[in-house]
Amino acid sequence: MIMDEKFWDDMHSGSGSGWSGNPNPVLVQQVADLKPGRALDIGCGQGDDARWLASKGWTVTASDISSVALARAAERAEGTGDITFVHADYVAEAPAAAAFDLVTLQYFAIPKANPAAARAIADAVAPGGTLLVVNHDVGADQEWNGIKPSDFFEPHGIAELLDESWTIEVDETRPRSTAPPAGAHHTHDTVLRARRLLRPTA
Ligand SMILES: C[S@@+](CC[C@H](N)C(=O)[O-])C[C@H]1O[C@@H](n2cnc3c(N)ncnc32)[C@H](O)[C@@H]1O
Repeated sequence: MIMDEKFWDDMHSGSGSGWSGNPNPVLVQQVADLKPGRALDIGCGQGDDARWLASKGWTVTASDISSVALARAAERAEGTGDITFVHADYVAEAPAAAAFDLVTLQYFAIPKANPAAARAIADAVAPGGTLLVVNHDVGADQEWNGIKPSDFFEPHGIAELLDESWTIEVDETRPRSTAPPAGAHHTHDTVLRARRLLRPTA
């Protein structure tokens, strides 16, 4: 199974596609104490996090590989703060370097075979800014739509790619704060929150 644009367009199509309309609880918890600035939401889906960030005063760039998701997100976001929607595949191409005070990835899959993509995404964080990566804590033997989650970076694996110009603030597995959607079994999330130092130590 290839998770290309068609795959994600199909996931986002139809009315029963399971998108809650609410921001992700870990994002809300982790961003509450940050000063609003420029945020990049990678794999924004139907824009629930982007709308919440904009409502809190962030200037949001919300990106997704799926045109269907972006069309829905733009429709839902009409009249909500400062959001620019961008059609991009940030596994294949790098986002602008050092351009954002917050880069958030909520349940976004980066293949372990492509650590350069993970590094480029981290590099989009400006000095002093925050990288937030959240995923489901899935067993290594589980599969989703024929895809093995163990082929993709967990937040902790991305933490291991960060050099001394970062402070790791959170790197943990924690119980989900909301019940999993119907059909899902994961009870825990994995969370990385890292801050890029203003002046890296030599
Ligand atoms: C599991 S969904 C999560 C959506 C949203 N972040 C949320 O938490 O509701 C993953 C999202 O990433 C998008 N996506 C998958 N691969 C992508 C890629 N290579 N580049 C950009 N977006 C991608 C999908 O279209 C989908 O919207």
